[in-house]
Amino acid sequence: MFRTHNCGELNIKNQNQIVTLSGWIKKIRKIGSIKFIDLRDMYGITQIIITKKMKFFNTKLYQEYVIKITGIVKSRLAINKKLNTGEIEIIVKNLKIINKSKNLPFLIDDNTDATELLRMKYRYLDIRRNIIKNIIINRSHLCNISRKFFIKNNFIEIETPILIKSTPEGARDFVVPSRKRKGKFYSLPQSPQLFKQMLMIGGIDKYFQIAKCFRDEDFRSNRQPEFTQIDCEMAFVNQKDIMNMCESYLNFIFKSIKNINISKSWKTLTYKESIEKYGTDKPDIRFKMKILNISNENSLKKYKFFTSKDAALVIKIKKNIYINNITNILNCIKKIKKVNFNENIIYIEYVKTSINYYLISNKVIYKDYYINEEDIKKWLNIANVTHNDITLIILGDKNIIRKKISKLRLKIAKESKMHDNTISPLWIIDFPWIKLNDNKYKAVHHPFTAPKIEDIKKYQIKNPIKITSQSYDIVINGQEIGGGSIRIHDKKIQKLMFHYLGLTKEEYTKQFGFFIKAFNYGAPPHGGLAIGLDRLMKILYDNNKNYNIKEYIPFPKNKYGEDLMTNSPNNIDSNILNDLKIKIEK
Ligand code: AMO
Repeated sequence: MFRTHNCGELNIKNQNQIVTLSGWIKKIRKIGSIKFIDLRDMYGITQIIITKKMKFFNTKLYQEYVIKITGIVKSRLAINKKLNTGEIEIIVKNLKIINKSKNLPFLIDDNTDATELLRMKYRYLDIRRNIIKNIIINRSHLCNISRKFFIKNNFIEIETPILIKSTPEGARDFVVPSRKRKGKFYSLPQSPQLFKQMLMIGGIDKYFQIAKCFRDEDFRSNRQPEFTQIDCEMAFVNQKDIMNMCESYLNFIFKSIKNINISKSWKTLTYKESIEKYGTDKPDIRFKMKILNISNENSLKKYKFFTSKDAALVIKIKKNIYINNITNILNCIKKIKKVNFNENIIYIEYVKTSINYYLISNKVIYKDYYINEEDIKKWLNIANVTHNDITLIILGDKNIIRKKISKLRLKIAKESKMHDNTISPLWIIDFPWIKLNDNKYKAVHHPFTAPKIEDIKKYQIKNPIKITSQSYDIVINGQEIGGGSIRIHDKKIQKLMFHYLGLTKEEYTKQFGFFIKAFNYGAPPHGGLAIGLDRLMKILYDNNKNYNIKEYIPFPKNKYGEDLMTNSPNNIDSNILNDLKIKIEK
């Protein structure tokens, strides 16, 4: 028997009991004729004591050795309130080394000295740290309660295959060569999209799955090449039904995990409103600073800083400890990564009765620029500015400055710690159905997303990019957490989408023939949604640290898509390549 108890459960009630524990040596201290050892397992730490009388007192013991001890539980003189087991210690009667450990590559502690490279290479040691262990346990808890929610609501959990034909979610596929069908390849699913729709056609009413997805796309802090979705699909529903279901699910998760009550119905913005007000379709609405548009103000036109510009957009900032002068605003502008914010900006500060203003141009402050005070007042009036507000008027190309302001908004909020720990979810709806890229139409979501039928009638001929789709994204604190849509169940509309995408009948039959065929046999109206589990973990457990999502994944990949622990991707044995008839060019 390895243990009678774990290392996190003994307390004063167990006093004088003989117990056996197994675990890792976290720390050894020798004080005179006594050795104090912190013994650790997944559940906690127990202090064990070896006195000089014991024959194994001189046995060499080091950190991370796995040992088994038997001893008697005694109350402790100096109680350690930080430990669950802090009231007791164990006087060891018997000790066995189960396994030794080499010198550690890094300190196994919450405040470790390890570089990320070492942590990933020795991920199993990293997992021994409380911080990582707790993430893994919390992730399991999130999956468990999600499962309970969906099952309680009559969803059926169904595994869809991993070796499939390509799913068009917009990224590149990872491919797997087939040995038995030489020269042919499977793709790994970018999502279970096609299969969940097939399930609906197969008469399954409500499906869900905690699904692994694979996308070969460029690195970003909220992307992993292999990630997990909480995926669902429902038949005979409309957009509102799915949004309601998803709100109930996430409200339940926030209540169960964070004890946060989210208001019953979430805010909703159309895509157009979101871009206009926040410059992005993923706005963080925990703080204000909405964008106002004064481009049509005649009084602007007489100033040189506005000539040849087509937009004048305004944001109003409440002064705070950090945002209290022009230099700090300029610092925020300079700190925005990868964006050259060289536009003209009028900085206006309204202090008691006076108004101070400056021009920032190409990140330089010009103090003597003359602007008529009556004009400034007019602009402030539009922005509803009150005493102690700072106003920025950003002048430039309307297609560019909204995006830049959206970044500036985030930077100002970050630098002045405007974020709090609230969770502010919202829906973005009415995305365009298709968009023009290099003169070619592309689906904004995947090509099975249903358009609004009334928009098809209105814009199909004249202006197809004005067609909006029946799609919806969940954005929480500036992150896209999930998204979905009502699907096309009408063959004519599906063909129209393929027509816009420039796919000929041969091409779409080759790619999606099996899928289109299924629609000949009675497809019910249906729709669904997928939530990124890794991103949801971050929202639940990040506490504003803004970690990369890889911190919430047990075995993540680095920014080159590598797993440093197993050293993959890696070369493959030439016999396997020969078997697959694959030649690698050197
Ligand atoms: P979508 O592509 O929007 O929709 O993905 C849904 C959610 O999955 C998460 N996500 C990712 N998380 C980590 N790393 C990635 N590379 C990554 N890519 C996406 C995001 C995103 O909101 N089949 C549709 C859903 C549907 O229509 O039902 C789909 O996959 O949180």
